[in-house]
Amino acid sequence: SVSPPQLHGPEFEADPHPAYRWLREHSPVHRVDLPGGAWAWLVTRHADARRVLADPDMLKDPAAGDAAWRAAGLGLPYDHRPSLVRSMVNVDAPDHTRLRRVAGGAFTPRRVRALKESAERVTADLVDRIAASDRPDLVRDLAYPLPIAIICDILGVPGADRPEFHRRAAVIDSSSYEEMEAIAATTDWFDRYLGELVEARLAEPSDDLLGDLVEAHRSGELSRDEVTSTAFLLLVAGHETTVALIGNMLFTLLRRPERWERLCADRALLGPAVEETLRLESPLQNATWRFPRKPTTVGGVALEAGEPVLVSLLSAGRDPGRYDDADGFRPGRGDAHLAFGHGAHFCVGAQLARMEARVAVGALLDRFPGLRLAVDESELRWWPSMIMHGLFALPVRTGR
Ligand code: HEM
Repeated sequence: SVSPPQLHGPEFEADPHPAYRWLREHSPVHRVDLPGGAWAWLVTRHADARRVLADPDMLKDPAAGDAAWRAAGLGLPYDHRPSLVRSMVNVDAPDHTRLRRVAGGAFTPRRVRALKESAERVTADLVDRIAASDRPDLVRDLAYPLPIAIICDILGVPGADRPEFHRRAAVIDSSSYEEMEAIAATTDWFDRYLGELVEARLAEPSDDLLGDLVEAHRSGELSRDEVTSTAFLLLVAGHETTVALIGNMLFTLLRRPERWERLCADRALLGPAVEETLRLESPLQNATWRFPRKPTTVGGVALEAGEPVLVSLLSAGRDPGRYDDADGFRPGRGDAHLAFGHGAHFCVGAQLARMEARVAVGALLDRFPGLRLAVDESELRWWPSMIMHGLFALPVRTGR
């Protein structure tokens, strides 16, 4: 067709890939309209995406955005709270380097091992319940609860607080721009709650990641706002994305039962299948804002300083200019993808997310070799978003 596709509405939500294919072919750096009268450049080809992600002159600090973007108020309500926004994802070097060093250093091999044991325990319990359920839904029953349990471990959320923490996290996850009030109330709650967790650790040190951040505050490396902001970032960056990865992986495997059977027969394919899912169905559809420090060109298009840029990770993964058989599922093809970003802001939680996906899908392979979708693929509903890419539900038959 000759006119650009819609990046919202039922057709796009049911399958966004044709829209990105059109953009890659016809308008690889495309001006898209956003709510509130704002607009952004959407970058859909792999080579351009990679270059924008790694370019130190593409700033992440929202203050670098132009006046039109800032006036549209697209930032979520917490964008104005120093206690929640002073995290590495919203700043550039040198603050970025410092914040990232502290948080990255807290993901030690010993910590990640302990988180893996915890993920295995939580998963075993969830899989038992799936086995006993009449109408299992792998998003509700596994993809959703596992990552939030791990975030609670990372932050050291006490057991008694976890149900409420889960419930509140769900509000942030499911909210759209139309639900600003619900998000604002929930953000208030997290602001208060994370503040209390930090107070408790200032009174009594703890051996968890939050404890490390609080120690860095004590030694003057992080401000108190930076501690709570980092804790909040771990929640918002680490939960919904991992839910989507696990759901999208099960979808990718189960829509072709021979893929499930192949993995059952050859478990060495599990890790490569995680990577192939990240490439084919990137949980982050279009990654966070960047703003050129000075005028530049991307893919032959001139950009002014401060004009907002979004990078389409979902589109980059399907670019035939980069991948042979780009829409095909070929675990082990060995090609890197951009689903965890690239360059200075590369995902801090990538190993953790990969581990959770392997544990979750591995447990299902062990337990339910005859697992099948319980509905036709066309009945599955995706989150109505151009930022995230994940399923509301994945009803299955366990074959037992
Ligand atoms: C950054 C994806 C899981 C923590 C990023 C970025 C991407 C990404 C694309 C780069 C953003 C940018 O360049 O603007 C994902 C995906 C995940 C996942 C697809 C799951 C499948 C996690 C987990 C955590 C986490 C489990 C931690 C618990 C972070 C943090 C950053 C980040 C802290 C900011 C890094 C920085 O700004 O230097 N993630 N992520 N992520 N991610 Fe993840």
